[in-house]
Amino acid sequence: MTTLPDIAFDAIPRAALPALLRRMPKAELHLHIEGSLEPELIFALAQQHGVALPYADVEALRRAYAFTDLQSFLDIYYAGASVLLQAADFEAMAMAYFERAAADNVRHAELFFDPQTHTERGVPVSTVIEGLSGAVARAKQELGVSASLILCFLRHLDEASAFATLEAALPFRQHFIGVGLDSSERGNPPEKFARVYARCRELGLHLVAHAGEEGPPAYIETALDVLKVERIDHGVRCVDDPALVQRLAREQVPLTVCPLSNVKLCVFDALDKHNLKALLDAGLKVTINSDDPAYFGGYVNANYTETFAALPALTARDAYLLARNSFEASFAGDADKAVWIAELDAVFREAAARA
Ligand code: ADE
Ligand code: ZN
Repeated sequence: MTTLPDIAFDAIPRAALPALLRRMPKAELHLHIEGSLEPELIFALAQQHGVALPYADVEALRRAYAFTDLQSFLDIYYAGASVLLQAADFEAMAMAYFERAAADNVRHAELFFDPQTHTERGVPVSTVIEGLSGAVARAKQELGVSASLILCFLRHLDEASAFATLEAALPFRQHFIGVGLDSSERGNPPEKFARVYARCRELGLHLVAHAGEEGPPAYIETALDVLKVERIDHGVRCVDDPALVQRLAREQVPLTVCPLSNVKLCVFDALDKHNLKALLDAGLKVTINSDDPAYFGGYVNANYTETFAALPALTARDAYLLARNSFEASFAGDADKAVWIAELDAVFREAAARA
C-alpha cells in the first residue's frame, strides 16, 4: 500500500477540490485514441476523403450518442473511425487529444489503439503507427506530455486475427510498449487470447486487458491468472466477488476506472451510484480515466470533477491517492514517476497551506 506523505489533507476544504482536481498533475492510463475523435474532426476528414457518413451533420451524429450498453457504443465508434485513412489523420486525431490532455495537466498518457479496426478497412498498420508515433513525439516536444502506445486486440475477432495483427505490428515494436484487449466483452473471455498473450509476454511487452466492465468477475481472474496482465481496465464488477476484491487489494492490482464511460454505457445508472469510493475504501489501487472522451461527455478532468461532485464522500486525500495511483500504475520509468509525484506533493502541500 502507498504510504502517503505528511500533508494536512484534512485541512483542504471541499470547495477547493474542483480547482485542485484540475490543477493536480496526473497520468491517463485508459484512453482509446479512436475514442477521442470528435464529431467535428470526423466530418472534416469525411469531407476531405469523400467518405459518406450516415449522419447529416455534427449535431445529428452527436444526437446518436445515446447508448444502452457497450455494443451500442462500439457500433458507432467503429463507424466513426472509418474516416481515418492516412497517417496524417491519425496524427491529427492524437494531437487534438494531447492538446486537451496538456490542458488537463496530464503529464503522462498511455494510449490504446485498435489496429484491426483499420486493417479490416485496408489501412495498413504501418500507416496507423506512423501517424500515432509521430504525434507521441510531438506531444513530448511541443506540449511536454510524455506518452506511449498500447496495441489492443479486438476480442470479438479470433485468435488468428490477433496473432496476424501482432506479426504485422512487430516491425514497429519500438513504437508500442504493450498490448491490451478491448471491444465486446461478454462471450469473449480473456482466455480466448491465452496464447497471444503468452507470446507478447515472451516479447517483453506490458500486458493489460479490459475485464469486469460488463463481464463477470471471473473474467478479471482469468485476465490475471491466464493472461498475466499487470493492470485491469475497468474492473468495477469485481465487487460481485468479495474474495476477488480482497485479492485485488492485497496484490495492489491497478484498476483503470472510467466513471463517465460507465454511466454512458449503463454499467451504473448514474454517477452517484458509482462504486469508485467503495473500491478506494476497500484498498484497491484505483485510477480515474476517460476511456472514449469524445463519446462519453468529458476528458479526464471532467471525469475527476464530476465524480467528486456526485460522490460527496470523496476527500482531498482520495484526490491525491487517485493521482498518485495514476503515476505509480503507469509503465513510465521510476525517474519520471518520482518527478511527477514530487510535483503532485507540492501542489497538495500548497493547497493545505493556503487552507
Ligand atoms: N473500445 C473502446 N472503448 C471500449 C470500452 N469501454 N470497452 C471495450 N472496448 C472498448
Ligand atoms: Zn476502454
